[in-house]
Amino acid sequence: MELPKLKILDEKHKILHTTSKEVTFPVDKDTQKLCYDMIKYLEMSQDEKIAEKYNLRAGMGLAFIQLGIPKRIFVIANEMDDGTFDEHIIINPKIVSQSEEMIYVGEGEGCLSVNREVEGIVPRNARINLEYYDFEGNKKTIRAREDLSVAFQHEIDHLNGILFVDRIDKKNPYKDQDKMREL
Ligand code: NI
Repeated sequence: MELPKLKILDEKHKILHTTSKEVTFPVDKDTQKLCYDMIKYLEMSQDEKIAEKYNLRAGMGLAFIQLGIPKRIFVIANEMDDGTFDEHIIINPKIVSQSEEMIYVGEGEGCLSVNREVEGIVPRNARINLEYYDFEGNKKTIRAREDLSVAFQHEIDHLNGILFVDRIDKKNPYKDQDKMREL
């Protein structure tokens, strides 16, 4: 399998701090192909041997803005216990409800655009309900919990020009840890 050629921008690029624009429908074929390439890239990045060969960091989510394209689209490839992938292509997402309960990733969140070690935790809602669109413009809904909920919130932040590091309290990187559940 050949690794799709994607140029993922580092956090120093200002475009990562801008708001992406709503997508119109139907989504063109090139954009659809790019979504599938992004998913393939993420899945290959989560394979240890391939990651070593191509010197990749493992990632489960990627937003268009990370490729320098300011469209409100992101993809997720979440590896399941049986080794298959739960794949999502999410367009023009909107969080319609969220749990009161907050969670955080204990080892810290990661991002393919943040190439450094980061101290601290990011508060996320344990569960969210999301509205989004498919390529044809059909409205869909999905309920996400735990890791997938964190991934969706992380990627939606990208569409709004926010990186996970922006959500970490600089003076107190583990602020409110006792009020949240660790993942
Ligand atoms: Ni990210």
